[in-house]
Amino acid sequence: MARPKLIVGNWKMYKTVAEAVAMAGSLKSLGLGGRAGVHVGVCPPLTCLHAVAQALRGSGIEVGSQNLHWEREGAFTGEVSAAMVKEAGATFTLVAHSERRQLFGETNATANRKVRAALAEGLSVILCVGERLEEREAGRTFEVVRDHLLGSLEGVDSAAMARVAVAYEPVWAIGTGRTATPAQAQEVHAHLRGLIQGAWGSAVAEAAVIQYGGSVKPDNVRELMAQPDIDGALVGGASLKPDSFGALVHF
Ligand code: PGA
Repeated sequence: MARPKLIVGNWKMYKTVAEAVAMAGSLKSLGLGGRAGVHVGVCPPLTCLHAVAQALRGSGIEVGSQNLHWEREGAFTGEVSAAMVKEAGATFTLVAHSERRQLFGETNATANRKVRAALAEGLSVILCVGERLEEREAGRTFEVVRDHLLGSLEGVDSAAMARVAVAYEPVWAIGTGRTATPAQAQEVHAHLRGLIQGAWGSAVAEAAVIQYGGSVKPDNVRELMAQPDIDGALVGGASLKPDSFGALVHF
């Protein structure tokens, strides 16, 4: 069974509502949601999520949240729940992006609570994993991504794994212009698929979508996608303009 490719734009903290709606209109008119075998999504800032979801209705492009809180509601100033992003139009969420891990105290334990809350609400999840430069240089890449993967997905059963994608994003490649080579990425993707097989079995591992992220651009996307265990891309900078995001979807 061929796995679909999954191309997702993470807009981070970029775009006003007006800019985001204009961008969504461009993506829709480019027909980016219509490519067979390629699933496409965008993660706008929360202020624009509802408007972008409305603008993309009928486009085939899904809208996701960049983060969420694990409780459904409550006295959690500044936080937004899975139910809330779903109501606003999200069908999926990122969890544990490296910027959340590095700058906002995300741990495998908090990531796990977020994954479970999102899945319980019916959302799909893109779980981000990846080593920092010093961890790679210390030869700890496999150990770090194993801890991220298994720690963040603890208690998720095989049925729910159908709604979980993994994004391998080496921290040293994010926003730096320094991409992992296709061979470096493939090596970690194969390792991740092996870990999924060990924890959830062969069928789940075979179907699991594992994206690469970190300075993916129109000129390097194709060789990354050609690797057997790379099933898509999670893209920051190059997802912010319609033309470059369009080129990525048409890798
Ligand atoms: P980048 O970001 O494509 O700008 O390197 C990737 C990400 O943070 O998901």
